[in-house]
Amino acid sequence: MADTLGVAIIGCGGMGRTHARLLAPQEDVHLRALVDVRLEAARALQEEVKAEYTTEDLERVLSDAGVDAVLICTHHHLHRPMCVAAAQAKKNIFVEKPLALTVEDCQAIRDAVNGAGVKLMVGFQARYSPFLLKLKEVIGAPLVIISQLIDPRWDDASWANDPIEGGGNVLSQGCHCFDATCFLAGSEPVSIYAQGGNFTHPNIPQITDSVACVIRFANGAVASVTIGDFGKPALMGKAAYQLFAGDRTGTLWNYYEREPQIKFWGVQPEAFTMDDLPETLRHAHGAHGYTQQMRAMVDWFAYDVDPVNAAKVDDGVRATQLGVLAIEAIRTGQAQPL
Ligand SMILES: NC(=O)c1ccc[n+]([C@@H]2O[C@H](COP(=O)([O-])OP(=O)(O)OC[C@H]3O[C@@H](n4cnc5c(N)ncnc54)[C@H](O)[C@@H]3O)[C@@H](O)[C@H]2O)c1
Repeated sequence: MADTLGVAIIGCGGMGRTHARLLAPQEDVHLRALVDVRLEAARALQEEVKAEYTTEDLERVLSDAGVDAVLICTHHHLHRPMCVAAAQAKKNIFVEKPLALTVEDCQAIRDAVNGAGVKLMVGFQARYSPFLLKLKEVIGAPLVIISQLIDPRWDDASWANDPIEGGGNVLSQGCHCFDATCFLAGSEPVSIYAQGGNFTHPNIPQITDSVACVIRFANGAVASVTIGDFGKPALMGKAAYQLFAGDRTGTLWNYYEREPQIKFWGVQPEAFTMDDLPETLRHAHGAHGYTQQMRAMVDWFAYDVDPVNAAKVDDGVRATQLGVLAIEAIRTGQAQPL
């Protein structure tokens, strides 16, 4: 690598813009290229972050020796072909969640990445949230976890509800909750049982929008995980994680609202709030880990600093696998082994 990490952002929509804005001020990052089939989206972002060039042509970027790493921020059906092409071009990869929508696609990405010997990080930024890290630090190995990621009903017309591009709530967004639950458990899931189905989008019968799951982990811990877009949780907010270790418990709630909070029982101090964050992280991107995740990616790709908390390719495969197997458990009525 030269003095700076040459980066290309692929897909200049919501997440592409978020990552570009976090990377632009970093002195050891050079925003080399912005790629989008809507060139106007790439150009608008270029105005803001001063990337070197914009293009609609992914091949141009993959054959550009000035690009060390690509950030793949497109819809889900493009993750496999783009990750595989990037791996073959020997670029390190950051890919937004989910790694892909099927286990087969995830495994193809894993094979390409391992075969090419490149690095891949998945956009599960909650692993860098000071709130999840505090829960994990204080509770240690939980015996029981209760997790939720629940939204008001998503628009039928949203791309995330498209069965091919998005996959529906459980696969599209639920992967965050599956991954965070495994991260907090600190153990590998060995089986998943679920009930649920298509509760709120009867006109898109291919998608699963609501699940209540039970996961068992290798260390004997269990998790109850509820995911879907069946209404706004009035008290706990969209995302909440409760960890129980017998003599101590911790509840994180209102995670996505303005004031995420943790309340502990059995340990002091009892509370953890935004006020406990370093001032530099006392904002939404710091509270949710986006800022720290980008820094860890640069440190890994540029200086080979192992990002111990990051979601790597196996974590991406596992999160998709849990969603796919939850849907299979609903279909068969049987718990599914991993
Ligand atoms: N980590 C998170 O918290 C989080 C939040 C939202 C979205 N996401 C993920 O980020 C990814 C992108 O979601 P989004 O909300 O930014 O979508 P978006 O629709 O806002 O942006 C996608 C962009 O990709 C572009 N695009 C489409 N085809 C392309 C191609 N062949 N080559 C280059 N660009 C192409 C589109 O024109 C668009 O600008 C998804 O994987 C999504 O699940 C993650």
